[in-house]
Amino acid sequence: MKVLGIETSCDETGVAIYDTEAAGRLLGHCLHSQVELHAGYGGVVPELASRDHIRRLPLLLEQLFAETALTVADLDAIAYTAGPGLAGALLVGASVAESLGMARGIPVLPVHHLEGHLLSPLLSADPPAFPFVALLVSGGHTQLMRVRGVGDYALLGESVDDAAGEAFDKTAKLLGLGYPGGPQLAKLAESGDARRFRLPRPMLHSGDLDFSFSGLKTAVLNVVSRPDWRAEQAADLAAAFQAAVVDVLCAKAVAALKTTGLKTLVVAGGVGANRHLREVLDAALGKRGGRVHYPEPALCTDNGAMIAFAGALRLAAGERRTSPPSVRIRPRWPLTELRTPQAERA
Ligand code: KG4
Ligand code: ZN
Repeated sequence: MKVLGIETSCDETGVAIYDTEAAGRLLGHCLHSQVELHAGYGGVVPELASRDHIRRLPLLLEQLFAETALTVADLDAIAYTAGPGLAGALLVGASVAESLGMARGIPVLPVHHLEGHLLSPLLSADPPAFPFVALLVSGGHTQLMRVRGVGDYALLGESVDDAAGEAFDKTAKLLGLGYPGGPQLAKLAESGDARRFRLPRPMLHSGDLDFSFSGLKTAVLNVVSRPDWRAEQAADLAAAFQAAVVDVLCAKAVAALKTTGLKTLVVAGGVGANRHLREVLDAALGKRGGRVHYPEPALCTDNGAMIAFAGALRLAAGERRTSPPSVRIRPRWPLTELRTPQAERA
């Protein structure tokens, strides 16, 4: 079965085709990032994002079909990101997916964006086995989940305010870096000395698995507002901020493994690309005889491959379109509401 995946939830247009035959493999994926479009505004402008998805999606689909030497007629199903995300942006992918599916008479599956992220490490050459703990760290979410299988997600803890990626982006702005801030802050931090500034580790000892990052951003604001602040110290402050976020993420992830008695950690979402986070997590789990799995680098941020893959797994778990075609999106959609027909029967 060949499943087309379409991702348009935020500022990346992504399409991919996943083939479930043999061991399953990705036949191709194409991506267009809107970074340049939004850069001048310092953040994502929803209306511009929607319009750009409309412009890019047909071109990307043409490119994908050319690269894979396939046509729409070769597809067996279509999966699209139905939420969470920007409503206008989601509608673009949803309408294209539903129309193509209706024209071809094939199943169309609305996919949860975070489920896509969470399952994306299973696309790597050495995939993790269920059950595992997932640390989801994106621009909109910071969550620890116990994952027993596809559609079986229990929330262990989450951020009570800013998401980790959001904290990176907002702190980058305070340091005068452009959008998207996370990768730029991480790059600057590499040349800094984290010990030059002492920043708090919010909720490190809260006794639960929740996070808070907005106070850390305020702590950075306090430093850059001091009269003796010098721009040359930005790399040190970036490193100190990154170290604080990573310390808390790592401590809570390890606590989640202890609580659940599991040994495997899966890290997904844009912040999962952070090098320092990976080093610290790898070392911490290595010490405990555990292991961390990440998506392939190209699949860390938003992409169509993870949506095609999640759709394929949902099809395999018995999900079928029964209702008449309709454009379904859910801009707000808790991951824990997901089930699969298989999980319902269990
Ligand atoms: O998963 P993602 O692509 O989109 C959402 O679903 O939100 O994550 C984007 C987030 C942004 O906040 C971005 O700044 C952050 O991931 N990010 C990073 C890095 N690369 C991306 N944060 C820290 N270090 C990085 N290397
Ligand atoms: Zn994402």
